[in-house]
Amino acid sequence: MENKRKKLIAGNWKMNKTYDEAKALLTELSAVKNPPCDVAVCTPFLFIKEAAEILSGTGVLVGAQNMCDKESGAYTGEVSAAQLTSVGADCVIIGHSERRAYYGETDAGVNAKIKTALSHGLMPIVCVGESLEMRESGITGEHISIQVKLALSGISKEDITKVTIAYEPIWAIGTGKTATPEEAEEVCGLIRGVISSRYGADASERVRILYGGSMNAKNAAELLKKPDIDGGLIGGASLKSADFLKIVEAGKQ
Ligand code: 13P
Repeated sequence: MENKRKKLIAGNWKMNKTYDEAKALLTELSAVKNPPCDVAVCTPFLFIKEAAEILSGTGVLVGAQNMCDKESGAYTGEVSAAQLTSVGADCVIIGHSERRAYYGETDAGVNAKIKTALSHGLMPIVCVGESLEMRESGITGEHISIQVKLALSGISKEDITKVTIAYEPIWAIGTGKTATPEEAEEVCGLIRGVISSRYGADASERVRILYGGSMNAKNAAELLKKPDIDGGLIGGASLKSADFLKIVEAGKQ
């Protein structure tokens, strides 16, 4: 089937960079003109407005790494979808394994956040992934299917194509241990199958599925060649413009 998807290379800065460091990296990234694929930079909340300003006119999307599922009100310490769009955010990472592991995010919470993001026109980048223990027990497929189904519960056929999924095996995040292109392709294909069984083949062919986990300037091209891998969610390698821009270049295919 014809590939209807444009690759997306998204940087997840996590909790890195001070204000001056962030401005310097954003300024380096603003040299990007007409990138060969879609590009997004998900900075800490504090820097989103600056990112949107510095990157305006480059075509690079700006995003957050989390958000609240509630609209507004007494939710101390939270940030809403309306607040994100008001400072220029285009997208938001939802359900990253670090948030699930350290901040108790649940599948139901992830589902609620996706719905809120969609209702505000923010593109959700929804993370799923298995632990090393799950992989070694042979339950990767079951776990990922359940995560995807719960995340997408109640999302309409019209909205599903606005969702991006990121497959991030937990054992590959920040470890330097990347999934092989075959391992990553197998799970990204499985995710597409889950979406196809629920929304039909045509919709599933329009949903972008990224790989994340120690993706870098050296291994990106091989991973991005795989038919079901539609881009990357990049942690460590998004913190240096030279590395990140090499991965963006590898997205040209
Ligand atoms: P690393 O690229 O540092 O392994 O992080 C991946 C990730 O968690 C992106 O969201």
